[in-house]
Amino acid sequence: MQLIYAAASPFARKTRVVASETGLTSRLGLIETTVLPVDVNERVNAVNPLGKIPVLLTDDGEALYDSRVICEYLDSLHDKPRLFPADPGRRWRTLRLAALADGVMEAAVLTRYERAARPAERQWDEWVDGQLAKVRRGLASLEVSTDLLNEPLDIAQIGVACALGYLDFRFAELNWRHESPKLAAFNEQFADRDSMRSTAPV
Ligand code: BEZ
Repeated sequence: MQLIYAAASPFARKTRVVASETGLTSRLGLIETTVLPVDVNERVNAVNPLGKIPVLLTDDGEALYDSRVICEYLDSLHDKPRLFPADPGRRWRTLRLAALADGVMEAAVLTRYERAARPAERQWDEWVDGQLAKVRRGLASLEVSTDLLNEPLDIAQIGVACALGYLDFRFAELNWRHESPKLAAFNEQFADRDSMRSTAPV
């Protein structure tokens, strides 16, 4: 299998953390690339018409995207406890939290693109404020989902940790720990895992 990814992407990081946690890293070749809103990346477009990374090229010749699909696919390939719980009592809550973490990542990445890639005179401050409000509301909702921290390892915890890692990487000025002490405690432990250390954004 080969993963087309960017080292800074929190979505790609999520897939790499899943590969690491499920013992699949040695089966995963990495193809690093860059994807910017205004650049045409033919290599990525050829396998994902949406032009987004990550994309997983499977041993069966499939191109899988987006990160949610890749994570669930990887989770089907190992014999450890599942990261996507099957038990309905946990499954839907876990998937909702994972979606919330993805939404925080998405709002943060869009903000990053707006600020870093768009010419200053065309930037839309109100739109950025709206995206950052999504980040703040998302973190506030995660902060009260403290039982998240006590579950066995699952895709929601991985997503939350990757979202928080991206905020630290690109939005240190948000100082998210101030409003989210329980998430901060979760992150301090989780960020120490080998899977997180070996995939830290650069
Ligand atoms: C970034 O540089 O922040 C970034 C790069 C690729 C995907 C997402 C974010």
